[in-house]
Amino acid sequence: MHTHAATGVVAELPLSAAAARVAVAGATGYAGQELVALLARHPAVTSLAAYRSDRSGSRRVPGWAGEIQPLDPQPAGAAAALAAAADVVFLALPEAASAALAPALVADGARVIDLSGAFRIVDPATRARWYPETRDADGAVYGLTERRRVELRAARLVACPGCYPTAALLAVEPLAEAGLLADGSDIVIDAKSGISGAGRSATERTHFCECHGNVSTYGVFNHRHTAEMEQELRRPVTFVPQLVPLDRGILETIYLRVRRGVTDADLSSAFGAAYDGEPFVGVCGAVLPSIRDVAFTNRCDIGWALDAASARLVVVSCLDNLRKGAASQAVQNFNVMMGLDETAGLLA
Ligand SMILES: NC(=O)c1ccc[n+]([C@@H]2O[C@H](COP(=O)([O-])OP(=O)(O)OC[C@H]3O[C@@H](n4cnc5c(N)ncnc54)[C@H](OP(=O)(O)O)[C@@H]3O)[C@@H](O)[C@H]2O)c1
Repeated sequence: MHTHAATGVVAELPLSAAAARVAVAGATGYAGQELVALLARHPAVTSLAAYRSDRSGSRRVPGWAGEIQPLDPQPAGAAAALAAAADVVFLALPEAASAALAPALVADGARVIDLSGAFRIVDPATRARWYPETRDADGAVYGLTERRRVELRAARLVACPGCYPTAALLAVEPLAEAGLLADGSDIVIDAKSGISGAGRSATERTHFCECHGNVSTYGVFNHRHTAEMEQELRRPVTFVPQLVPLDRGILETIYLRVRRGVTDADLSSAFGAAYDGEPFVGVCGAVLPSIRDVAFTNRCDIGWALDAASARLVVVSCLDNLRKGAASQAVQNFNVMMGLDETAGLLA
């Protein structure tokens, strides 16, 4: 039995479970709020400390009674405070802040789960273009949970994938690995996202009057998630993100060409081999998923339609950008790192 320091909630811990003190930096942001809500009821979390920047006034996380403390603007001071408060630190910060903090945290002995893009890109020149504040990403594990469990177990620094890449990679990687895609197939990803994907601060593109009753395209050939998808798929990707008037959720319609002769059964068997028994990936076949199916969950649901005669394939992949695309995938990674049941704290 343990008492949750921040909430006062008393919970039974399974005897086999590892327990951890955790901290969330960026707890007042959209992703950070979700993290705090999930970690506050996580059975293996013995204490939860939450931090904001030193610039904002006091804010609350809905449904959580704990205090959110200001973080020292100096990375060394912030890292020392976080490492003293926690064994595992979740960074839900802009990438520049993560780039400054994570190495110091690791040096101070903490394990770090970063939600920003700061440590996702391996190639130094590509990283310098998209994430110029990151000096070095060596040793970071790319945290697409279903695909990287072995590396995650011992990771000191986890770079959680972006929300758009999570939906895209879970959908395309099994097909590429099974050799079902035609040589040189274009990968075209038409993605719709709710507005919370852009974070809490409104810009001209994201404020209510621009988004209400509107759909808009942005970042074509100029979005940093393209680099992340191309790195993982090792193929060019045409990625077209669009904002739709929803608060949360991503739906990607992915256009592919498959090898001549590929059948629906081949597709089922590739997705089945990748995801049979996976608690958080739904293989939906011809029943194409929608955002409502996955909102507020850690699920990514994947369906498809094949035109065998022309060897054209459309895959639809859906997730909640704040959950499987951010906070709950980070908790899933935490569970793997701690040797816990992967669903701990993630099922309703
Ligand atoms: N939103 C998504 O769907 C999503 C999905 C996947 C990954 N991510 C990534 O997750 C990270 C957080 O995203 P978000 O959407 O939650 O952002 P957000 O809503 O803008 O929140 C940012 C958080 O970081 C804090 N912060 C900002 N600068 C700081 C600094 N220098 N030192 C300490 N704290 C600082 C803010 O605190 P104050 O309240 O004090 O300003 C706030 O708590 C980003 O890297 C983003 O790319 C987001």
